[in-house]
Amino acid sequence: MRAGRFHGFVVRRGEQVHGYVDRCPHMGLPLARDLDEYVTPNGDLLMCSWHGAMFRIEDGFCVGGPCSGARLQLWPVAVRDRMIVTA
Ligand code: FES
Repeated sequence: MRAGRFHGFVVRRGEQVHGYVDRCPHMGLPLARDLDEYVTPNGDLLMCSWHGAMFRIEDGFCVGGPCSGARLQLWPVAVRDRMIVTA
């Protein structure tokens, strides 16, 4: 990835926030076809809307789909003064 801009997304679970570059390891597409559609209906996993890869929210590890065993690229984020910032 070149320095500069990238697309990312953040998922919040209670007090924890997890940030990832919005690029599926399968084919390099953004995970969500529709705005903010990053999690499975039950909220337990991240899901790529193209071919169904599923990732753990806490570490981006792919647990199912065409890129099983791969990982999303981490975007380190933190909560400071009630705002989400790049760590
Ligand atoms: S591009 Fe994400 S599963 Fe294929």
